[in-house]
Amino acid sequence: MDSGHLSQEGIKELIGKAIEARRKSYSPYSHYQVGAALLCADGQIITGCNIENAAYGPSNCAERTAFFKAVSDGLRAFAAIAIVGSPEGEALTQYAYPCGVCRQVMMEFCEPEHFQVIVAKSEEDYRVMTLAELLPEGFGPDNLSDGNARS
Ligand code: THU
Repeated sequence: MDSGHLSQEGIKELIGKAIEARRKSYSPYSHYQVGAALLCADGQIITGCNIENAAYGPSNCAERTAFFKAVSDGLRAFAAIAIVGSPEGEALTQYAYPCGVCRQVMMEFCEPEHFQVIVAKSEEDYRVMTLAELLPEGFGPDNLSDGNARS
């Protein structure tokens, strides 16, 4: 997919992949299922789901699963992420906004003014925001004297 300007078709494709990823959610404790699809700058789409744990603490959000899969495969530049979430067995009746920890992980690898976060109830019903809108005045690699940590 072209990662530059996200077309309506591009957004729909990304949401479709997030919906597919949500089916793989491992969430036997919260029964809240989340799927994410991360669009990389090179056009690849990497998906993730939430993965819970009996000890609760080690649980991982869908967004971070997608980011960590991508980074561990050598991908470091990202354009957008689509997120869908709702309780198991229920239709997507709410927009699932990323938690604070996931916003901070996005801050590590994304340009806040450009990275687009899409929260969706369906391929037709979605909201698009930038990371800067979701995490204003965020703290990131540029704040450290070693500001090129990402490269
Ligand atoms: N969850 C996500 O996957 N992403 C978020 O941004 C918020 C929460 C997951 C974590 C946990 O498995 C379940 O949703 C309920 O909190």
